[in-house]
Amino acid sequence: MLSLITDRALKFAAPADADQAEQNARLSAFSMTGWMKIAQRESAAELDRIHAAAQRIRRESGALVLVGAGGSSLGARALISALGDGDFSVFFCGDNLSAKRMTRLRERLKTRDYSINIVSKTGTTLETLAAARVLLSDMEARYGTAAFGRVYVTAGEEDNALSRFARERECELFAIPRDVGGRYSVLSPAGLLPAAAAGVDIDALISGARDMAQSGRHTALRYAATRRGLYASGYRTEIFAPFEADLSDLASWWRQLFGESEGKGGGGIFPSRAAFTADLHSMGQYIQQGRRDIFETLLSVRDGGTLVIPRASYFGGVSDDLVGTDFAELNAAARRAVADAHAAGGVPVLEIELARLDAYNIGQAVYFFQLACAYSGVLSGINPFDQPGVESYKRKLKEILSNNRRSF
Ligand code: PA5
Repeated sequence: MLSLITDRALKFAAPADADQAEQNARLSAFSMTGWMKIAQRESAAELDRIHAAAQRIRRESGALVLVGAGGSSLGARALISALGDGDFSVFFCGDNLSAKRMTRLRERLKTRDYSINIVSKTGTTLETLAAARVLLSDMEARYGTAAFGRVYVTAGEEDNALSRFARERECELFAIPRDVGGRYSVLSPAGLLPAAAAGVDIDALISGARDMAQSGRHTALRYAATRRGLYASGYRTEIFAPFEADLSDLASWWRQLFGESEGKGGGGIFPSRAAFTADLHSMGQYIQQGRRDIFETLLSVRDGGTLVIPRASYFGGVSDDLVGTDFAELNAAARRAVADAHAAGGVPVLEIELARLDAYNIGQAVYFFQLACAYSGVLSGINPFDQPGVESYKRKLKEILSNNRRSF
């Protein structure tokens, strides 16, 4: 079960007023809340189809390439780094415009059979379509018409160019529900299919999310209200820092979720991410003594596994006191030290702990952050589900390219 500790933050600011019933009512006025209907949404039949497709991908291919950007990539990436079984390779592309990176990926794919999953809710994201075109043409050259049997498409439920392509070429097609936005889509086929292919237990993931949907509202609202109280008291930047290296990509997903949801109308908490303890050796100085408008959310795992330091003396005895110590004990001590030192240095610290690093707990965490983000939006009086700023970039880019006489 996920737990939230706010003591080291409440010394700096009181939480915003947050009546549960009132915030729920405000939330229900928005239409893009399909991600909350998790129990109905991911039906047994849909999950069976995802499992079957994942098994087919693993049977037929040595690797899967996920072609997608933003919410159509970061969630899957977070799940796979945290929970993938490591027996199957998943590559990512379609979220940048680097010819070098794409060329390197194509080289790596030459030596293995592969499938691709093109993920785009709108079916119009330029980076995604550019990368997909390159891979589709490579696959046709290699597999002929059989190529399309290796192409899995995840697109918005509404009719668009990508879903039409999938139907025309008879690729297996999965839908991102109409009322689920990109950054809230990790528990839809956008995240579930690539995660299942990478060996993630998606049933446990969904079960964790469902349990959080039933029992986590109070805690999610407390997190949102505390963040809001800190923001109102001048704390403008939040650093989200997991103490598990395998949760770094979850931090990138978290950053998009909160950044795109809250950064509007000239305001919003600036979401930043760090990996602890690694970044204590790069960002620790700034956090301890830099501008005092930062607060932190530390994420840790209670049962993160054990690894005892062997009994042998090295380094002329320096650090011999580590002998017989478990990494888990060191990591827990580091978290306590960080929370104490940073709070003493004027940084409000929120702490979130997961019981274990498994699919059930990550399902809980993902749903918790989505809910907390939605509450943060309604507490701030903004729409946490739109992203007009992202659309402007996409529109401008297309304008520039069409002026260059290319059309997408
Ligand atoms: O959250 C969002 O809506 C965006 O970050 C999108 O996920 C991202 O721009 C990719 O869009 P699409 O899934 O339409 O390709």
